[in-house]
Amino acid sequence: CGIVGYIGKRDVAPLLLEGLQRLEYRGYDSAGIAIHAKGTGKAAGGLKTAKAKGRVRELESRVPKRFAGTTGIAHTRWATHGAPTDENAHPHLDTEGKVAVVHNGIIDNASDLRARLTAEGVAFASETDTEVLSHLIGRSTAEKLEEKVREALRHIEGTYGIAVLHADFPDRIVVARNGSPVVLGIGEHEMFVSSDVAALVSHTRQVVTLDDGEMATLKADDYRTYTTEGSRTTSAPETVEYAAESYDLGGHDTYMHKEISEQADAVDRALRGRIDDRFSTVHLGGLNLDAREARGVRRVKILGCGTSYHAGQIGAQMIEELARIPSDAEPASEFRYRNPVVDPDTLYVAVSQSGETYDVLAAVQELKRKGARVLGLVNVVGSAIARETDGGIYVHAGPEVCVVSTKCFTNMVVSFALLALHLGRIRDLSVADGKRIIEGLRKLPAQIDEILETEADIKKMAELYADAKSMMFIGRVRGYPVAREASLKLKEVSYIHAEAYPASELKHGPLALIEPAMPTVAIVPDDDLLEKNRAALEEIKARSGRILAVAHQEQEKADHTIVVPKNEPELDPILMGIPLQLLAYHTALALGRDIDKPRNLAKSVTVE
Ligand code: G6P
Repeated sequence: CGIVGYIGKRDVAPLLLEGLQRLEYRGYDSAGIAIHAKGTGKAAGGLKTAKAKGRVRELESRVPKRFAGTTGIAHTRWATHGAPTDENAHPHLDTEGKVAVVHNGIIDNASDLRARLTAEGVAFASETDTEVLSHLIGRSTAEKLEEKVREALRHIEGTYGIAVLHADFPDRIVVARNGSPVVLGIGEHEMFVSSDVAALVSHTRQVVTLDDGEMATLKADDYRTYTTEGSRTTSAPETVEYAAESYDLGGHDTYMHKEISEQADAVDRALRGRIDDRFSTVHLGGLNLDAREARGVRRVKILGCGTSYHAGQIGAQMIEELARIPSDAEPASEFRYRNPVVDPDTLYVAVSQSGETYDVLAAVQELKRKGARVLGLVNVVGSAIARETDGGIYVHAGPEVCVVSTKCFTNMVVSFALLALHLGRIRDLSVADGKRIIEGLRKLPAQIDEILETEADIKKMAELYADAKSMMFIGRVRGYPVAREASLKLKEVSYIHAEAYPASELKHGPLALIEPAMPTVAIVPDDDLLEKNRAALEEIKARSGRILAVAHQEQEKADHTIVVPKNEPELDPILMGIPLQLLAYHTALALGRDIDKPRNLAKSVTVE
């Protein structure tokens, strides 16, 4: 979900709608806006709201022409509690219509609070957890708006990023954060607030990121931050790393295409300043793990969700191969619910693009509580996971807007390669192998561009296979997580069912599915498993299955081969994933899908 707010001198509705457009990737099943109607002090016209199920453009068509004001808040939603309807769209008002609240996160005790308020005679207008907050604030007898909000928050268990308007306090917006990001944008005689810098950068690059347990009051000419208990906190603005253009389409039709195309630069950024040729190793300044500690690591456990989990699977193999430390990856959501053994000699790595995914954050918090050492491998600088971990690696992919992750995945895997190299060189990886991997890493950007130049051919293949009802993706060892990620990518954007299998497991079941209507994408690197992989292609061909291979050379048994340049075997998975991103993209395009915003998904899942 996304929050945006503005207080200043400009006409607020267009500003908020533009902000929502920029946040739409975070959720897009309903949207809403509330403003202080023109007028000042007691003569103010009160709050006005507009809401709509569906995309921001639906909301835009519902905002009346005479929706004048210079202070307001808005929200775009990804439904959790209650279906995506007009009523459930934020902002939520109290009974008198004096308080408007937009909220990200989940209020765990919402049903208890709702029952209590209902017993006290409050009539609810929606099914959301958020509405309890509006009523609690509305019913508070405290004098100041800040106190009303503080009082209401005392009743709340759960996570929130909120922004609040009150008809009697037209000179301010009050915001609060606990587990869900809130960023203030500091302008000249105007202030912005959002859950994401993406909505701020076209107006200001001066931002203040609230900490958990912090609140702020925004007025047109100043802002103040303080804890939920009321003591002042200091908060000098920081400058946002990426300029507004990084969040624009830059001539591409979709963000997915833009982000796929940016990967050579992104990888270059991940490597920049980190390679140490003298010792054939890397510098990872933020890792916060000295050589003695690194030598003491007996296991590595990587936690993530979705695409990041798949990056973690490749990362685990790299660490095991290069550093010879037993490693594995697990979905963070599974890990946190199975009462895992938390071992002091295990190094935990939380991997996340946004740094906000709730399941990952909760796993980190649980691990920290048990005294474990947790590193973050994160894209968004200063995000919750980056802050909660003991150290880590920023993957430096730059802003990623498309809901499905591409360049960030690639940069995560590159960052894992750096971590594996670093751990390896502290342990038993030879100088020669260190040098070999470094040379491989340096070749990546040019090789990525080489792959991207074959886009027209990949597009043709996508069109050939777009009629499939279902697709199989197979790979072995290093190729298997590549197959899993490619299969996820295809289903996310094209809605074609796909599943990934280790090639060796085909004969234990999935071969039964093979027929011409179920094509197979096979990852066939030129490594020591080449002959084994070729045998799998034979098995499929013998059952008249269609095969698209991704390989280092044409595959005789395949109907089509996408040939990718060869790097070092440990790094080949990075390159083999890239044409399959383009395959998913062009399949979705051929099928007319909404590529940047696939149905039912959101970029950042900040709820359970
Ligand atoms: C959502 C997105 C996925 C993403 C996953 C993890 O499900 O749709 O694309 O891989 O969250 O997100 P994170 O920000 O933690 O990498």
